[in-house]
Amino acid sequence: MDRLPPEQLKIDALGPRQVDSPLPFSTVSGDGVGNFVRDDERVLHEIVCQGDQHPALELTFQRAGPREKIFFQPDRTTAAIVTCGGLCPGLNNVIRAAYYELRNNYGVSRVLGIRHGYRGLNPACGQQPLELTDRDVEEIHKLGGTILGTSRGSHEPSVMVDFLETAGIDILICVGGDGTQRGARAIVDEVSRRKRPISVVGIPKTIDNDIAFVERSFGFDTAVEKALEHITGAHVEAVGVPYGIGLVKLMGRHAGFIATNASLASGQVDFVLIPEVPICLAGQGGFLERLERCLKTRQHAVVVVAEGAGQELFADQQDACDASGNPRLQDIGLLLKTRIAEHFQSTDLKAKIKYFDPSYHIRSRPANCSDALLSNKLARRAVHAAMAGKTDMLVGLYHNMFVHVPLRLVTSATKRVDPEGEDWMGVLASSAHWMS
Ligand code: F6P
Repeated sequence: MDRLPPEQLKIDALGPRQVDSPLPFSTVSGDGVGNFVRDDERVLHEIVCQGDQHPALELTFQRAGPREKIFFQPDRTTAAIVTCGGLCPGLNNVIRAAYYELRNNYGVSRVLGIRHGYRGLNPACGQQPLELTDRDVEEIHKLGGTILGTSRGSHEPSVMVDFLETAGIDILICVGGDGTQRGARAIVDEVSRRKRPISVVGIPKTIDNDIAFVERSFGFDTAVEKALEHITGAHVEAVGVPYGIGLVKLMGRHAGFIATNASLASGQVDFVLIPEVPICLAGQGGFLERLERCLKTRQHAVVVVAEGAGQELFADQQDACDASGNPRLQDIGLLLKTRIAEHFQSTDLKAKIKYFDPSYHIRSRPANCSDALLSNKLARRAVHAAMAGKTDMLVGLYHNMFVHVPLRLVTSATKRVDPEGEDWMGVLASSAHWMS
């Protein structure tokens, strides 16, 4: 990969920070008191080097965390949180942790919950924000979904910024995937055009885990865990009858991270089909022939397919998109189910297919332990960044460190399963891939 120009990692700020942080931290290590993070604490973009090559020392992310001097005067600050796009385990944990950090730790005067994604920033949609209280958020981390509601799609930036100005919002925390972060960028552009001191900070959210420069987004781990339960069920069903095939379709529009990780964790999957690797169905060496070989050898098979896989197999390609601009997918699960059934009708093997489509089940759950932790850590760091007047950025996890990532980077690239990478090699090694 070409090296990024270092200025691409620069984080924008609203202005000089002149307010002392109210957080009870220090700048001295070893004094038993939590530490502020300095802007010149950096995390290397590349940490692997080859031969006599050195990592680019100038190519670094700003480290996330509380700053000693902040931009906003807390008791004169209004912050707002908006959750956008598809549901994801951990959304309520993010709202709760951001609220507590803003209101109880920094002491900001108001925290608003914007209703139903960016719709709530468009008065024409008639969704008034909620002024959040301790009581509103106290128990919400135990619930799936988002208490604020969500929606897909952005709205006219000038309308949304008019709303921010009218409501006196100084900080907007945008929780969502790449579509949401593109919307956040449009808001930043309009805010900068008006030269208004409004901070826009993102928190990456998607069960697909496909946000660039973010190693893991919250909700992914829970989704994988739930997907694994369905794969286990599919395996039980497949081994329960002669020549049983358990076929599981999992979410993953453009990226097969859920399918890849859940299959790897299961160790019971024979075929994994993901959007990143084209499917050859029929003919010698094709999926159907290899599935037949697998059935003959093992008397059962488990197949996991990500919903975005094999879209090239559909003759009538669709152009329709959802409100986030994502192409509407054709149903690869049902296509496979039909084609597998047809294939085995013409052979001596009386294969029986048990089809699992857990669909929204894997993302409508409350966060598991690791996502609860990640949501909390991301939310608190997003608040620290916003209070310091940073803007046009999100908090990402990179090399297992929390860093500030400019939105221009996040929205200019995509993250996909690397067909030459460790995880996919792991899938090939552990699944039968009778294939070759
Ligand atoms: O948020 C990602 C995701 O869950 C994808 O895996 C899935 O394709 C899509 O959202 C479904 O979105 P919707 O809620 O619009 O049906």
